[in-house]
Amino acid sequence: MMREQKAGYKKIIYYHINFKMTRRVNGMILYKTEAEIAMMKQSATLVSKTLTEVAKVLKAGMTTLEIDKLCADFVRHNKGIPSFLNYRGYPHNICASVNDVVVHGFPNNKPLREGDVVSIDMGVILNGWHGDHAYTFLIGEMSDEVLQLVRVTKESLYKGIEKAIVGNRVGDISYAIQEYTEKQHGYGVVRELVGHGLGRSLHEDPQVPNYGKRGDGKRLKENAVLAIEPMINLGTREVYTEADGWTVRTRDGKPSVHFEHDVCVKKNKALILSDYSIIEAAEQANSNLNTSYYAAPSLVM
Ligand code: MF3
Ligand code: CO
Repeated sequence: MMREQKAGYKKIIYYHINFKMTRRVNGMILYKTEAEIAMMKQSATLVSKTLTEVAKVLKAGMTTLEIDKLCADFVRHNKGIPSFLNYRGYPHNICASVNDVVVHGFPNNKPLREGDVVSIDMGVILNGWHGDHAYTFLIGEMSDEVLQLVRVTKESLYKGIEKAIVGNRVGDISYAIQEYTEKQHGYGVVRELVGHGLGRSLHEDPQVPNYGKRGDGKRLKENAVLAIEPMINLGTREVYTEADGWTVRTRDGKPSVHFEHDVCVKKNKALILSDYSIIEAAEQANSNLNTSYYAAPSLVM
């Protein structure tokens, strides 16, 4: 989500979602019951299954509008509602962010090409609960530089997730991601976009930046649900938004990578509600996709 400046305690932000006004009070994390967590796992898993369908068929020559239709059809067939469509006026079902597009890329009818770095971000509502996560796919040959960026960004997501436990603070998650990507690898950590709480609304408190200080921010309690989403640039961290009001690109035109998981805060180990294992299995079975970064000795750090 776009980072928002903290408003005063009285300020209430209204989001218009599916014709229903939901109220968000700044500063309040909405904790879920076990039954609600179980439902959110279903929502997150529906997104994972949808991205798995993408992983099965993605190849050079396809367009992101075709992927958009495939995703929306799959979600509807499974009784879900694509949640991005019309969210604050967003005009598509998915975000398809290719190469230097960081996030919020509009699907279009330009055929994808060998060498493209394709982040697909999808949100659904199932039984009133949101799932929202993203995965970056690689079409064909890639430079080692890009493979390493993808690998480090995915790893940074798990480093953040490790910190999503009871008693830690939001800043511990942020710090873990920034430390690994920016300090250890010299990548650009995007500041203008952040992760977020997730529940009956797509964006709930708290905001979860991918940069920050250990021990800063709100303390995490059991059953907070967070969408953690590092957006990491190969070059400069600076980005700009196109005239369409959505498409976010890197200033220097270099590629950016985005992975997102839906995570439930627990005592000793966070519970990941989304499921990359099915996406990864499909990705590895698709010879048009490059998964060499999974275990490339030359890329081991
Ligand atoms: N994962 C993104 C976010 O949390 C997706 C939002 S796309 C939008 O901001 F269209 F719904 F805004
Ligand atoms: Co999100």
